[in-house]
Amino acid sequence: MPKCTRDHRCDPDRRHFVRVHPGGLWFTIPAVDYREQFRTLLAGEPGILALAPMQEVTDWAFWRLAARYGGADVYFTEYFRVYPQSRLDKNILRSIVDNPTGRPVVAQMIGHEVGELVRTAKELRQYPVAAVDLNLGCPAPVVYRKCAGGGLLRDPARVDAILGALREALDIPFTVKTRIGFESADGFDELLRVFGRHSLDLLTVHGRTVREMYRSEVHYDFIRRAVEAVRCPVLANGNVYSAEKADEVLAITGAHGLMIGRAAIRNPWLFHQIRLRRRGEPVLLPRGHDVLAYVRALCEETCDSNTRERSQVQHLKRFMNYLGLGVDPEGGFLHEIRRAQTRADFFAICERFLDHDEPMPLEPFKLSLQDRDVVGGVMH
Ligand SMILES: Cc1cc2nc3c(=O)[nH]c(=O)nc-3n(C[C@H](O)[C@H](O)[C@H](O)COP(=O)(O)O)c2cc1C
Repeated sequence: MPKCTRDHRCDPDRRHFVRVHPGGLWFTIPAVDYREQFRTLLAGEPGILALAPMQEVTDWAFWRLAARYGGADVYFTEYFRVYPQSRLDKNILRSIVDNPTGRPVVAQMIGHEVGELVRTAKELRQYPVAAVDLNLGCPAPVVYRKCAGGGLLRDPARVDAILGALREALDIPFTVKTRIGFESADGFDELLRVFGRHSLDLLTVHGRTVREMYRSEVHYDFIRRAVEAVRCPVLANGNVYSAEKADEVLAITGAHGLMIGRAAIRNPWLFHQIRLRRRGEPVLLPRGHDVLAYVRALCEETCDSNTRERSQVQHLKRFMNYLGLGVDPEGGFLHEIRRAQTRADFFAICERFLDHDEPMPLEPFKLSLQDRDVVGGVMH
């Protein structure tokens, strides 16, 4: 918690501290201590829920909306790209300095050079982040060919050096989000030994290799192996799409909590449903018109009204890639929505499929998807 000093001033009602960044940027630090809140979550009861980072999807506007539907216990930012002379991306920074969730935020970085990562981690540390996270999972060729993201998993010695330097540089929580290997999970035990050497505060494991992208089965047994091998809490990640599945994954893996991505876009009620089930209460399913209201809210809250109508429709389609999997078993909604050009077309289709009173489980149907359907999110 900052003190009132020359650089930090309390606002009159003491809800915020105002800090002047060395670059001259003013921002407010909430009088909630997110780092403390985060540490309490990590030390507390198992079952914590995190919203996964998803580039160009889980931005500030989506977080604000997600929080209205019940929201996660902790939010991970889209990754900050780290390269020579990189600067912190202002759009992602907004999620931190103007945190709309009231919950701790973990700032994620992606890069491969030790000095650059340390520089960026120290910059991020000056903002009200609960922790800094390193991405060891991104499967995009443009990223892994530069030996960043999932590409680093081919080089455990470099991971070791990076984690050592970051741990030493950071006096705030430091976390890692990883996959279980690059080509295969053969080297996972060695990676776990590397993670174990650096006093991480949290490890998130997406139970797939980089080659498996987003579509294979999730290897929950490897997540369990991580839980058994490292001393820090572990979040299990991959294909948690219902309250029932959430319980199952926690039981199979023994993890401290879950990180959820695509299913939370499809079903923003999911975090609330998981909490209801945990309390033994009936899991409320949204009805068609609730889902329609969600799509309208996505439009109002996440579309930039200064952009052309066509771009706004494109932007909404990004969310529909996920939602569409849970609307009808034939994939008719997704098929039609992809062809919509105007907002009027788009909402006419939504109304045709969603303006009803039936409960919607919003679990993904097994549609026969084409490669470009990427619904899993291969564009990442
Ligand atoms: C479109 C898209 C963007 C993503 N962006 C990131 C990212 O910035 N950082 C990251 O660590 N993972 C990213 N991921 C991976 C997710 O955080 C998560 O690990 C993955 O989707 C599996 O979880 P899920 O089955 O709950 O979606 C992205 C995934 C998708 C589909």
